[in-house]
Amino acid sequence: MNSPFEYLIAELKPMLPAAPKILDVGAGGFCGEKTTIPLLNILPDSEIVAIEKNGVRCILLRGKVSPPVRVIQDDYFLHDFGREQFDLVVLDLDFQCLPDVFASLSGKTESLVNPGGFVIYLNICNLELANHFYPGTKDGRIEEFMKRVYWKTILEPADVRAVFAQSATWEFITAKNKGETQNCTHWIALRKKGGV
Ligand SMILES: C[S@@+](CC[C@H](N)C(=O)[O-])C[C@H]1O[C@@H](n2cnc3c(N)ncnc32)[C@H](O)[C@@H]1O
Repeated sequence: MNSPFEYLIAELKPMLPAAPKILDVGAGGFCGEKTTIPLLNILPDSEIVAIEKNGVRCILLRGKVSPPVRVIQDDYFLHDFGREQFDLVVLDLDFQCLPDVFASLSGKTESLVNPGGFVIYLNICNLELANHFYPGTKDGRIEEFMKRVYWKTILEPADVRAVFAQSATWEFITAKNKGETQNCTHWIALRKKGGV
């Protein structure tokens, strides 16, 4: 085990059901290497649904993890999951999606997580570095998002905790530095309130 995501999943494992139902969103970007395969390795009894909007990435991902992973080709924000709910939703989308990912915590994503279940999403914690390493963030949308939500563009875990302190829905669990590209991203883990 060696990535911050793997450490995070290992930390959440004792709080998850023995056979958790998991939704992995944007799963195909690195052919499942960053999230889907670590989830399978650390939670081998889990039931995993992976959704990815890019068709070629879906084919590659299916070749690698399906079965047991159910791979759906669609846009997460448009897909109808019916009444399905999950114990864990992992949102590892491109950074341009970050404002929508955050907004979905009081809409789509909230409705997909069981009470007591978890969501993990990837947040930018240093805008200047993110603009350097992820040129797709330069359109101003992420800067507007960070200033509106956090009032700053360099974040410590305490800043994220403070934003969720008033939330009726989500309890802040942890923010772990993703650690790969010069400390500009955090994995954020939240727990949905209302579980037993
Ligand atoms: C950073 S990569 C994810 C890497 C992935 N977790 C892995 O382990 O390989 C982001 C992926 O999200 C996908 N994506 C972006 N927006 C999406 C959306 N609205 N619905 C589904 N997938 C989306 C992109 O096509 C891209 O493959």
